[in-house]
Amino acid sequence: MDLGPGTRALVTGASRGIGRALAEALAARGATVGLAARSAGELRALAAALPGERHVLRCDVADAASVRDAVEAFAAAAGGLDLVVANAGITHYGPFREQPLEQAEQMTRVNWLGTLYTVHFALPHLLAASRGHLVVVSSGAALRSFPGAAVYGATKAAQRMFAEALRHELAGTGVSLTTVFPGEIATSLHDHERDRMPAWYHGGDDAAQPAELAAKILDGVESDARSVVHPPLVRLLGALHNLNPRASDALLRRLRGTTAAPRRD
Ligand SMILES: NC(=O)c1ccc[n+]([C@@H]2O[C@H](COP(=O)([O-])OP(=O)(O)OC[C@H]3O[C@@H](n4cnc5c(N)ncnc54)[C@H](OP(=O)(O)O)[C@@H]3O)[C@@H](O)[C@H]2O)c1
Repeated sequence: MDLGPGTRALVTGASRGIGRALAEALAARGATVGLAARSAGELRALAAALPGERHVLRCDVADAASVRDAVEAFAAAAGGLDLVVANAGITHYGPFREQPLEQAEQMTRVNWLGTLYTVHFALPHLLAASRGHLVVVSSGAALRSFPGAAVYGATKAAQRMFAEALRHELAGTGVSLTTVFPGEIATSLHDHERDRMPAWYHGGDDAAQPAELAAKILDGVESDARSVVHPPLVRLLGALHNLNPRASDALLRRLRGTTAAPRRD
């Protein structure tokens, strides 16, 4: 699918980070952009800074009715839907045995159910038009999860398996799907927990910029890529992990230290 003037794109989690970078990249190409998130003030400020037609959609992806309303409002205002990006997500890192159940439930609602709701309410619009594209922003943690990210990784793996099956189910419909597996990207994702991130986490200066990832995602949509993986080392780690988990653990120990893969059996 070609992205440009005439493309009607809805992005969840558009107020910051990867979603904001995607909204900026889409607006720069002349697309009509639906900006969905909870922070209406940040969305309004972004909408004011973007060129072209943009719609602020206050939406909590953990709430099915809120997602339905945002999708329907955008489709009505823009006259349809072409591209839908299920990107909104949160983290709570830490050892599972110390993690409050509420945090695990919240990640499950936002990351996994939020994706499910977004696709559920958007897909009928795309199928009715026999064209369009879905993007599911998962994580490198869905390819090889990390100590401290047991529940986060599980929610990202749920997105991955959902998207993998759905891409095949959509064959021949005119609608397609790309899954995104980011590594460490410089966003506000961990701002609330920076002081207690595990030792294996680099973040900071080592993290890739959201605009780089956004450009790769738009390329991936236009080339109908099955997946977009950035930085590229994440792909190598995922492939190696599938073939030989011990070898990927050894690689991680070299790259990130023993806290990334403490067991050797
Ligand atoms: N940054 C990384 O290193 C990295 C790595 C792998 C995967 N990812 C994935 O990339 C996606 C985007 O994350 P990011 O790094 O850009 O993080 P971010 O800067 O914290 O942005 C997260 C976005 O999600 C929105 N959001 C959170 N909860 C929401 C809810 N209940 N309803 C609607 N929107 C909600 C936030 O907006 P409001 O707070 O205004 O609602 C914000 O716009 C996530 O799915 C994340 O898991 C990120």
